[in-house]
Amino acid sequence: MKRKTQLIHGGISNDPATGAVTFPIYQVSTFKQEGVGGHKGFEYSRTGNPTRHVLEELIKELEGGKAGFAFGSGMAAMTAVMMLFNSGDHVILTDDVYGGSFRVMTKVLNRLGIDSTFVDTSKAENILTAIKPNTKAIHLETPTNPLLKITDIEAVAKLAKEHNLLTIVDNTFSTPYWQNPIELGADIVVHSATKYLGGHSDVVAGLAVVNSEKLAEDLHFVQNSTGGILGPQDSYLLIRGIRTLGVRLEEMEANTKAIVEFLQGHSNVKKVYYPGIETHPNHQIAKKQTRGFGGMVSFDVGSAENADKLLSKVKYFTLAESLGAVESLISVPARMTHASIPAERREELGITDGLVRISVGLEDVEDLIEDLENALNS
Ligand SMILES: Cc1ncc(COP(=O)(O)O)c(C=O)c1O
Repeated sequence: MKRKTQLIHGGISNDPATGAVTFPIYQVSTFKQEGVGGHKGFEYSRTGNPTRHVLEELIKELEGGKAGFAFGSGMAAMTAVMMLFNSGDHVILTDDVYGGSFRVMTKVLNRLGIDSTFVDTSKAENILTAIKPNTKAIHLETPTNPLLKITDIEAVAKLAKEHNLLTIVDNTFSTPYWQNPIELGADIVVHSATKYLGGHSDVVAGLAVVNSEKLAEDLHFVQNSTGGILGPQDSYLLIRGIRTLGVRLEEMEANTKAIVEFLQGHSNVKKVYYPGIETHPNHQIAKKQTRGFGGMVSFDVGSAENADKLLSKVKYFTLAESLGAVESLISVPARMTHASIPAERREELGITDGLVRISVGLEDVEDLIEDLENALNS
């Protein structure tokens, strides 16, 4: 099955009970048992729900793993994965991870004794230096948010195996349509499915896929015990979003390429960050491990004042957090998605006050370029 076909016919694509071509929403909390324990595979919807199960089977297949899990948000998925570890364990993470991922590690999980170190994982030597006797995993975000740095997943997974560590990849930006971390050696993939997988800014959800029966058993135990599950209606919306993922991403990729070319040629833009640019330091790795460079672009307009001017002029780029939807979005990471990262740390990372991030949508690219041009010229 090719990739666009798999998005539509993968997993359990219709309802065997009725023949309905879309799987129904099982809005139910509990299931009748024919005698104690005599159920048809479902007992209680926290433990398992048919609509969520269809979504979990679909993401499992798309990521090429052993089991999929759906959560109430990307952060719930990441937190559940971190609950696989114990007090006293240590995790290495990519330095410019999503601000919420930084926050949960340094303000919540640290209190439970899970220690973390953030390094530029695009350079393997940084990971090696950060490994401690109690390190259990390396958590990668690639491409990163908002600087679009790329980590070589295959190389890190190899290094992790040599040190008996798990490799976890946040695949939100690429999705399984462009990038398959498990094929490259990763053990766990997590998603903010709120983004490209949902694709329509109408659902908050998280997904995780694991590559072994043992991890599947352990993560299901955490999911059922801590209960951060995705409800049936949102599971349905996500299945629906995933069906059109391929066409959306192909079109967004084409729009993004044109916008990047435009931004590179504009005198008010100091720097453009996009892994598809040949001079991007990790361009070759991006080419090797992904089939598309994605629809996220960051660019520096020099100052917070310039960024504010740009934001006040654009018409088609909506000022909002989030990304990956049909409508183009614009944000200033330093004051929005990454505001939870302390200012000095942001400075170190290069998340400047003039850095603007766009998520390119499905509008006509001529309109998007004209919009940016008017705003930048003003
Ligand atoms: C890369 C990445 N991972 C995780 C998250 C968290 O996901 P959610 O907002 O669905 O909890 C986000 C949210 O922006 C993200 O961009």
